[in-house]
Amino acid sequence: MRAARYHDYGPAEVLVIEDIPEPQAGPGEIRIKVAAASVNPIDWKLRSGAFRAAFPVDLPAVPGRDAAGVVDQVGADVSGVTIGDQVFGLGGVLGASAEYALLTAWAPVPDRWTLEQAAGAGLAVATAGRGLNALGDLSGRTLLVEAAAGGVGSAAVAMARARGATVIGTASVGKHDFLRSLGALPTTYGEGLADRVRALAPGGVDVAFDAAASGSLADLVAITGHPDRVVTIADAARADQLGVRHLYAENDSTVLAEGAALGTRGAYTPHLAATYPLEKIADAHQESERGHTQGKIVLVV
Ligand SMILES: NC(=O)c1ccc[n+]([C@@H]2O[C@H](COP(=O)([O-])OP(=O)(O)OC[C@H]3O[C@@H](n4cnc5c(N)ncnc54)[C@H](OP(=O)(O)O)[C@@H]3O)[C@@H](O)[C@H]2O)c1
Repeated sequence: MRAARYHDYGPAEVLVIEDIPEPQAGPGEIRIKVAAASVNPIDWKLRSGAFRAAFPVDLPAVPGRDAAGVVDQVGADVSGVTIGDQVFGLGGVLGASAEYALLTAWAPVPDRWTLEQAAGAGLAVATAGRGLNALGDLSGRTLLVEAAAGGVGSAAVAMARARGATVIGTASVGKHDFLRSLGALPTTYGEGLADRVRALAPGGVDVAFDAAASGSLADLVAITGHPDRVVTIADAARADQLGVRHLYAENDSTVLAEGAALGTRGAYTPHLAATYPLEKIADAHQESERGHTQGKIVLVV
């Protein structure tokens, strides 16, 4: 099969397209013929070698955490899915930027989504759901999402709105109409955040979800009043210092089904910032590395 790979850690130029053996679905896994795969910050953080001490990868490596496509193998101990179904979901931390990928958590692609849009939902929904679940019942509460226009942030806004929260989201001014379209009250990030948030939510902010490793975690604790009211998916170092929970996405089909259900009723559609053919994966990684993605970047396979 065609796959993107890197043989050494390094800049995006280390990515090459190669012909490699197809993976085979084991117990608990399905294999999809990938229509589109998502590009996530973890892809280039691993590829660059920045995480090699904590998360070394076996080289050569196929990047890619999540994808969407058509089921073509169903492993042992798997039920509720059939060859030919269109699904989106997550496998390992590597392996999705290829013609075939293994998934261990998945949900059906809603009729309203294209397969490219579905490719943008897997890790975004799994991560947003993990963070929101940790913040408890959101009905009637006010949530602040830091980096609300990114892949995870925009999924978190949609899911939190559906759970009954009032949502304030931070992004640069050019993305404020996008945040409004998701149902969030937009504001900018950076100095003076507490004052801007107070103006938008005079009754206060109950909880905060940080999807930006921007240095604002202490501000989020001050805004909400307690470290227990904040979660981060992006800032492990400051989370440790402040007693804030730092969470990782889990391969959780229940959370993916929640995202799919929102898709079915038009309450969440992954926004595509850009699509690239698989052969242009280096350009896609470079765009993600610039750190200003609105929604998701997707590779069409
Ligand atoms: N723990 C996990 O399991 C997990 C899972 C997924 C992602 N992550 C991590 O979570 C982070 C977000 O992931 P993602 O996929 O959502 O990334 P992304 O889509 O690349 O996020 C880009 C967004 O970040 C915003 N941003 C940039 N600088 C900012 C700042 N200083 N303050 C606030 N927002 C800022 C940008 O807004 P503007 O363009 O308006 O500046 C842009 O919309 C990454 O660090 C990623 O590695 C962790």
